[in-house]
Amino acid sequence: MNGKSPEFARRRAFLGTLLAGIGAVLGAAALYPVWRFLAPRKGAEAQDQVALSRDQVPLGGAHFFNFRGRPAVVLQTRAGHFTAFSAVCTHLGCVIQWQAAEQRFLCPCHAGLFSADGTVLGGPPPRPLESLAVTLRDDQILVG
Ligand code: FES
Repeated sequence: MNGKSPEFARRRAFLGTLLAGIGAVLGAAALYPVWRFLAPRKGAEAQDQVALSRDQVPLGGAHFFNFRGRPAVVLQTRAGHFTAFSAVCTHLGCVIQWQAAEQRFLCPCHAGLFSADGTVLGGPPPRPLESLAVTLRDDQILVG
């Protein structure tokens, strides 16, 4: 007799199955974040688009909003003509302000100036404001 009874064999098989199951669950849990990272994001572009009402942007005025986690601004420079920009100054990253009377942006940090089309008018900013795509749909302004 080798000391291995049928009861011992059944217990050993059960334990093997149990350990295999636990291993499979742990393996799946470990690989899930990798799969999420590598899997393509469905509808990512649509989710990143921001919809604003035309009523939020007065003629000659600006409306600041959050775009992909950063400040952005949309302008209505002519009736029904909307443009959008990143509201982050291209110098050192301060948030710009809209000066409606002058129809220009001022960066309060180092007095950088940008025109309503985003070009640099003065001060230290090295580049124009980053332009954002604008699409009009019914009474909505879609940015992004
Ligand atoms: S951060 Fe805007 S001018 Fe310096």
